[in-house]
Amino acid sequence: MSATQERRVIQSSLARLWPSLLRSFKTPGIGELLSHSAPWEDVADDVAASWRDYASEYSEVENTLAARYHATQLVFPQDFSAGTHISRVLYFIVRARKPQTVLETGVANGHMTVVLLAALSRNEGGELHSTDVRPDVGCLLSPSERRSWNYHLLPPAHVRTSFTAVLKRLPTVDLFFHDSQHGYGWQSFEYEAVSRHMSPDGVIASDDVDSSYAFLDFCATHKREPRLVFDGNKTAGVAPASSPTVDRDLDAAVTITRHTPRGSTTSSAGSPN
Ligand SMILES: C[S@@+](CC[C@H](N)C(=O)[O-])C[C@H]1O[C@@H](n2cnc3c(N)ncnc32)[C@H](O)[C@@H]1O
Repeated sequence: MSATQERRVIQSSLARLWPSLLRSFKTPGIGELLSHSAPWEDVADDVAASWRDYASEYSEVENTLAARYHATQLVFPQDFSAGTHISRVLYFIVRARKPQTVLETGVANGHMTVVLLAALSRNEGGELHSTDVRPDVGCLLSPSERRSWNYHLLPPAHVRTSFTAVLKRLPTVDLFFHDSQHGYGWQSFEYEAVSRHMSPDGVIASDDVDSSYAFLDFCATHKREPRLVFDGNKTAGVAPASSPTVDRDLDAAVTITRHTPRGSTTSSAGSPN
């Protein structure tokens, strides 16, 4: 190939990649976020229908968390924690929908982990799987919560393949909450990978949807209406998932069952410490 031809190939590749590259560096403006925003009570139909039934038990969870924040030497900064609104939204969604498999990415001190485990415990069924790249996560969890929890440590050098491997071993996911790495590429990867492995009426939720266009783009591609909730200095989003139950991209040899009883999962369950 001559130098001129090489230059043309590079120029045309750049012209093709440039729009998506630019997109990955942009963040949604406040007007765009506001156009999808809702009060936390209305951010999901399940919440609107059920939050009054579960409000008093949720206050107990808030009190428990407040006491643990007071008594615990935090490993991660407190402002890593999921916000007040998205925490109660997910608690009420879990109580109302009774999901069998909940997946969260990004544990840090474990604020949302405590909330999700409390809701599942009240449901007396369903399991939580969490991923993080650090072994020292979850300092807010009690010993008994740790025993009912499935933690998957992702080696940072192979984070993408190990996340996919975890997903392969899970039953179909009924509720997903993203709160890990908030760059466009990683957020998009998680939303897409999990959506291919979700029950048809599964819900995708995400913290930090203002960090990149990933959540809004995902919702547009999958024709889902994003509903956003402003949470202090963060913006979280909820969208029902649209994808079919069948997992097209993951290994077809893996049998995906709707529910694996607690403790019999093939995943790397257990405490990170
Ligand atoms: C914002 S904090 C999570 C806060 C947590 N959800 C809570 O409510 O307390 C982000 C966490 O994501 C983890 N993390 C970073 N990259 C990750 C990745 N690719 N996959 C999973 N976790 C990741 C960090 O180690 C950190 O613990």
